[in-house]
Formats: sequence, C-alpha cells, structure tokens
Amino acid sequence: MAESDKVFAGSIPKFYDTLMVPLIFEAYAVNMAELVAATSPGSVLETAAGSGVVTRALAPKLSADARYVVTDLNQSMLDYAASRQGADSRIEWRQADALALPFEDASFDIVCCQFGAMFFPDRVAGYTEARRVLRPGGRFVFSVWDRIEENAFADDVTNAVATVFPHDPPRFLARTPHGYHDIALIRADLSRAGFAAIEIETREELSHAPSARDVATAYCQGTPLRNEIEARDASLLQLATDRATQAIASRHGQGPVAGKIQAHVIVAAG
Ligand SMILES: C[S@@+](CC[C@H](N)C(=O)[O-])C[C@H]1O[C@@H](n2cnc3c(N)ncnc32)[C@H](O)[C@@H]1O
Repeated sequence: MAESDKVFAGSIPKFYDTLMVPLIFEAYAVNMAELVAATSPGSVLETAAGSGVVTRALAPKLSADARYVVTDLNQSMLDYAASRQGADSRIEWRQADALALPFEDASFDIVCCQFGAMFFPDRVAGYTEARRVLRPGGRFVFSVWDRIEENAFADDVTNAVATVFPHDPPRFLARTPHGYHDIALIRADLSRAGFAAIEIETREELSHAPSARDVATAYCQGTPLRNEIEARDASLLQLATDRATQAIASRHGQGPVAGKIQAHVIVAAG
C-alpha cells in the first residue's frame, strides 16, 4: 500500500461524505448498524469510522445508556463525522490507529469497522487489537470490498484514468479498497489473530447516482485516488475526471446511472 492511500484529508472528507457515501457506503452502513444493534450491545467501538455513515445509522439503534466510542486514523474525517452528528452524550470521538488502540483489554461488547481493514498495513495486527479490546463473547463486525471487477464504477474509473497516465496508471482503487477480497486469506488472517468463529456473507448492492459526472467526481476527487493523480500532475485532475465521466456515461448512459457493487461482510468471535 502506498503512504498516500491512507491520507483522507484536505478536500477529501467533504467530497467523500457528500458524493462517495451516498454512492456506495450508505447501503452497507444500514446493514452493519442492524448487525451490530441486533445483540443490544452496552459498549461499541467503531474503528476507521471515516465521515460517520455507520455512526449516524447505528447511534439511534443503541440503548440510552450505551457507550459508543468512534475512532479513525485521520482527525479530519472524524471532525467531519462529528460535525454531522447531533449532540449525543453516549458518543466519544477519538483519533486512533486501529493497529494500536488506546483502550484497555476486554472493554467493548462489539468492535465494528466498515471498509477500513483494507487500509491496515498489517491486518493480523489490526484484528489482534480488535480481539484484545473485546470482552469474552464479544463480536468483531467488519466489511471489505470484493474484487474491483465486481464493482462496476470503480473498475470503469480505474480504466479511464489509466488513459491519462498510460505509462504510470494510478492503481489506488484496485490496490487498496479492492485489494483485500480473498475469503480464504481473510479467514486465515482472523484465525492468526485468534478468532475461532468466522462468518462471511458476500452482499451485492446497486449503487445509484444522478449522473456519470457525480460518480467520476466522487472517485477521482473524494478518495485518495486524488492524491495519486495530483502526485503525477495536479493540472490533470479535471481531465482525469472528464475521462472517467465519459467512460461511465458510455457504459451506463446519460442521466441517472446505476452500477453493481459487491462486498464481504464478516462477523468474527471466539
Ligand atoms: C473507505 S474509508 C471508510 C470510512 C467509513 N467506515 C465508511 O464506511 O464510510 C476508510 C477509512 O479508514 C481510515 N483509516 C485508514 N487507515 C486506518 C488505520 N490504520 N486505523 C484507523 N483508521 C484508518 C481512513 O482515515 C478512512 O476514514
């Protein structure tokens, strides 16, 4: 993983939250909130919370006396999330690396993490930390994207942006968000971290956007793909976004567009 892959800062949090979240994260956040709330946990830790889409879905489902600690590596994502959340004394916002959690052993009923594990430089270390802070019987609920070919818009954008930089194509989307999809590897990593009971569900959804340009702007300007494009030539960000717009419009049509997305949802315990 490149260093810039985990930098969600500058204008990324706003584009991420306003464009990426409704496009591909919201549907999975609703499902994750239901999974987490199903056992009425008294204490929840969320890691890699980003701009707070799961937090907004889950907080209303937790009991009045629940403790909900919401963390992310990037303070600017967390600031954005907090600014969107209504006042809620149950929620504690805290900057934290999921690989070095600043919490006591056995202090949460559930750890949840939506689409964050792909960014962990060492997944076994991240899972070991999640397990360490779980109480006996606790559950680690998380999700990762399936391969890029199962995620239509991400694939289209990656191929289109490659035409702008044919000798050094930006591969952020394939390398990181869609680079950790092998179920056997995920099971093995969880086992190495000590989890004994592992359930994995592959979920397909349909992502919708008002236009191809919304999709292209979301991926090119609201994710660390932007860092990769700007590192090559910042003046080509608009051209890259235009090429991605054309590619999506030619495959999915002018006007509102819809594309397949697919992810693995994992519940680990024991
Ligand atoms: C694709 S976003 C997902 C955010 C949010 N969970 C959602 O579903 O919208 C990935 C997030 O992982 C965070 N992140 C990257 N590396 C991390 C780490 N080592 N520990 C905690 N968070 C990390 C990033 O700051 C970013 O907010």
